[in-house]
Amino acid sequence: MIGGPETGPRHPARPVRRNDLGQYVQLAAEWWRPDGAFAALTWLAEARARLVPPATRPGAVLVDLGCGGGLLAPWLAGKGYRHVGVDPVGTSLVIAAAHGVTPVRGDATRVPLPDGCCDVVVAGELLEHVTDPARVVAEAARLLRPGGLLVGDTVNATALARLALVRIGERIPGLVPPGIHDPDLFVPPRLVVDAGVRHGLRMAVRGLRPAVPSFLRFLLTGRGPVPMLPSAGTALTYQFRGRRVPVPGTDDRPDPPPGVSTVDHSVVRR
Ligand SMILES: C[S@@+](CC[C@H](N)C(=O)[O-])C[C@H]1O[C@@H](n2cnc3c(N)ncnc32)[C@H](O)[C@@H]1O
Repeated sequence: MIGGPETGPRHPARPVRRNDLGQYVQLAAEWWRPDGAFAALTWLAEARARLVPPATRPGAVLVDLGCGGGLLAPWLAGKGYRHVGVDPVGTSLVIAAAHGVTPVRGDATRVPLPDGCCDVVVAGELLEHVTDPARVVAEAARLLRPGGLLVGDTVNATALARLALVRIGERIPGLVPPGIHDPDLFVPPRLVVDAGVRHGLRMAVRGLRPAVPSFLRFLLTGRGPVPMLPSAGTALTYQFRGRRVPVPGTDDRPDPPPGVSTVDHSVVRR
């Protein structure tokens, strides 16, 4: 259980078990609260959405694995996708649906949707919450049409990430809800890249870091937003992108141009 008489939802007491899905039920009211427990997810969603190009065909579908409360929805506005959200937590899906997401209850390692059903798969802050992240990447590749795009972000399996996001981050009110992460599930970029390549995706990775002045202001005042910016280092958090290799002459769309300065996976660390 989370919380206690002396703790507010911005800084709930540590739950008994890390990475417990029940936390998302307990914190349901926080999803859309400005500067609430999930504020950092909003910053990450904005950066993630920048990797999603406008749809190139009518009826394009974007499947958002581990969609939570649907925080990605406003950042996709005008891009032309039907936004389908997959999550095992019913309360989160109800909230996501209220923000225009088509809800599908399910597990990202066994998504109840057909092969090749979508143009874009998003896996934002999901891989570090599952025991088999490579399986999620495989599912994403299965769901994509030829030429389709996987985008996402996750936490690296480094000592720095453990220190910053667990030991320190959980002590900063409003930054990381205590117990939300199990650091043993943090994911090395090499695992994501290798899984994507094995399943026919052309992969790229780049680091992500908070804008320093905004982050300092957040630490002092508890107020966001904090823009998340590309960084050369991937030791903390990183974004990934995988294009399902198109079938020549069928759906051979170019990669999206908008500010996606990806680092080739040959330089991925760890
Ligand atoms: C940190 S939240 C991220 C939510 C959302 N992607 C965002 O960035 O706002 C992790 C989400 O993953 C979901 N999740 C955990 N395990 C999952 C699984 N096996 N399949 C699908 N979603 C899962 C949780 O319910 C939660 O909504």
